[in-house]
Formats: sequence, structure tokens, C-alpha cells
Amino acid sequence: MSAFWSAYIIVLSLGCLAFVIGVMIMANSLKVTREADNTTGHEYDGIKEYDNPMPKWWQWLYWGGVAFFIFYVLAYPALGSYKGFLGWTSVGEHDKDKAAYDAKYAPIFKAYAAKPIEELAHDAAAMKIAGRLYVNNCAACHGADARGAKGYPNLTDNDWLYGGEPAQIVETITNGRLAVEGGSKMPAWGETLGEQGVKEVTAYVLTLSDRKLSEADQKLAEAGQARFAVCAGCHGADGRGMHAVGAPNLTDTIWLYGGSQKAVEETIRHGRNGAMPAWKDRLGEEKVHLLAAYVYSLSHGGAAKH
Ligand code: HEC
Ligand code: HEC
Repeated sequence: MSAFWSAYIIVLSLGCLAFVIGVMIMANSLKVTREADNTTGHEYDGIKEYDNPMPKWWQWLYWGGVAFFIFYVLAYPALGSYKGFLGWTSVGEHDKDKAAYDAKYAPIFKAYAAKPIEELAHDAAAMKIAGRLYVNNCAACHGADARGAKGYPNLTDNDWLYGGEPAQIVETITNGRLAVEGGSKMPAWGETLGEQGVKEVTAYVLTLSDRKLSEADQKLAEAGQARFAVCAGCHGADGRGMHAVGAPNLTDTIWLYGGSQKAVEETIRHGRNGAMPAWKDRLGEEKVHLLAAYVYSLSHGGAAKH
């Protein structure tokens, strides 16, 4: 906070305090000339004004309020950049709440972490907590129902880029799967293959999932088959993919980036760089374990509701 705004707030707050005190002192010290019957002499439509002193209890309440105000602005950071003698901060408050939360839930996460993932996946109470972790951390990319979207894999099916064994899921969530050369990155082939080559290999890829092609495209596919040799290193000679490098199975009808001729061409020409972030540092091992059980549960008929 700049010195100007700090001073501005201090002047405004203390000005208010001075005003509030001043009004009371003035009201108490004002001498009103009274008539013999204790009225002030003001009269409107036959209604006369009495001059009774303010009730004592009300005055005490008022002064109590003033005293509380003074205590408050001295104790808490209420006056500009002055920190208050109690040393309270909203960050400190948050840290305290978080420590209390951790103390309460740490044993629960610890107990879950000791259970094997296959077993945890059937624990309804655990999956309820995991579901909240999922919504807070994963739903933005994989969808609230975990069915994914273009470029973000569906986690509820049994088609895996990196493998659906518990250890593989833990590895995916822990360290992420970043698009790097030699793994998890689909290189761009436009330059290497040329326009004709891209068309041919696209047609071939479509035949892998038994797509019906026009006669002309069928010809392209035949030419494309030989070119697929450069793809086999990652997608396998049969096109069924490889978990070690996250290369998708091209023989099923599940597409990460779309299965239209245009989308597949696009993928092959320009490549794809899907990146799954790492959660080790953000969530810690125990929560990753719980989330892995949740993901496992989604595709193995576990207790997760989605
Ligand atoms: C910023 C977006 C993003 C967030 C957030 C995210 N993911 Fe992912 N995730 C991805 C992408 C993209 C991929 C696919 C990576 C690839 O294409 O190589 C992926 C892949 C995965 C896979 C591998 C699926 C397979 O078929 O092998 C799992 C499992 C997974 N994510 C779980 C999670 C969990 C659990 C969370 C929450 C802790 C999460 N993800 C948060 C983007 C995200
Ligand atoms: C270096 C390994 C590697 C090579 C070589 C490679 N790919 Fe890929 N491919 C990948 C990876 C990894 C992905 C997933 C990218 C992602 O998740 O973002 C992928 C994705 C794809 C997809 C998208 C699938 C979907 O579900 O949307 C198609 C299609 C594809 N590759 C075809 C090919 C073809 C055709 C070739 C040969 C010309 C080829 N790839 C060569 C690694 C490779």
C-alpha cells in the first residue's frame, strides 16, 4: 500500500472516531433553556418537546462502542499499513486453518495410501473424497464426467495412452506426460512425407479401424501401407499403439484428436503435443495414490460416481 493511501485511510478512520466522540460531547454539554414544565419551548401543532437527558445505559453502550473501535484499530491491521499489536494477518489465518485441516485429514489420506489401488477403487467413502479432488484438479481438462474432450483423453474407457495398470496411472499423475521428443509427442510429418504422402498414410490409418473408403482412397491406402513403416516405431507395426511412448491405438474407433479424414490428416501433417501436467509437488504422493484409484475405478466398475 502506498504511503498516500495508508495516510488516507488513517485520516478517514480517525476523523470518523473524532466525529463520533465530538457529537456525544456536544450533546451532553449543550445547555438548553427550559420552561417551568421541563419543555424546550418548541411546539408544533400542539406537540411540545421535552428535554430529557439521554438514558445512562444508552450512553454506556455508546462509549463502549467507541472503546471497542479504539481497541480494534490498535489490535488489528485496520489503520493503513499499521500492522496491529496482535500481529493478525489473513495469510496467517489461512495457514492456521490449513494446518487444522491437514491434522484432521492427514491420517485419513495416510490410511488410504496404505491400501492397494484395486481395493481402494471399491471403497465408496474413499472414492467420494477422491471425486472432490478430481473435480478441483482434473475436471477442467478431462471433464466433470471424466469423458474427456478433443486432445484430453477419456478416463472412463479402457483405451489407454500410457497404460491402465495401477502403477502406470500413478506414474502418469505423479510425473505428468509431457510432449517431448521420443515420447508422448506426435511428430509433424508434413515435410518428410509431402502432401501426397500425408494423404496416402491418412487413408491407410483409416483402414486400420475398418473405415469404408472410396475406390480412389483405397488406392491411396495401399500406397500408404508401405509408408507406415516410419510410424511403426511408436504405433507398432500393427498400429495398436505403445504405452511406453503414449502412442494411441489407431485400430479402434476411439480418437483423441478426431477420426474424420480431415482431423487425421491434420494430426499427421502438423503433429500433436498433448501434455498432462505433473501433480507430485502440488498434491503429494498420498493424494496422487487416491486419485489413481479414482481413475482406475472409473474404468473398472469401482465405486467412483461420475
Ligand atoms: C491441463 C490439462 C490437464 C489437467 C488439469 C489434467 N490432465 Fe490428465 N491429461 C491431460 C492430457 C492432455 C493428457 C494426454 C497426454 C497426451 O496426449 O500425451 C492427459 C492424460 C491423462 C492420463 C492418461 C490417460 C491414458 O489414456 O493413459 C490420466 C490417467 C490422467 N491424465 C489423469 C489426470 C488426473 C487424475 C488429473 C488431476 C489430478 C489430470 N489428469 C489433470 C491434460 C490434463
Ligand atoms: C515418435 C513416436 C511417434 C511416431 C514415429 C508417430 N507417432 Fe503418431 N502419435 C504419437 C503420439 C505420442 C501420439 C499422441 C499425441 C498426443 O497424445 O498428443 C500420436 C498420435 C497420433 C494420431 C492421433 C490418434 C488419435 O486418437 O487422435 C495419429 C492419427 C497418428 N499418431 C498417426 C501417426 C502416423 C500415421 C505416423 C507415421 C507417419 C505416426 N503417427 C508416427 C507418436 C508417434
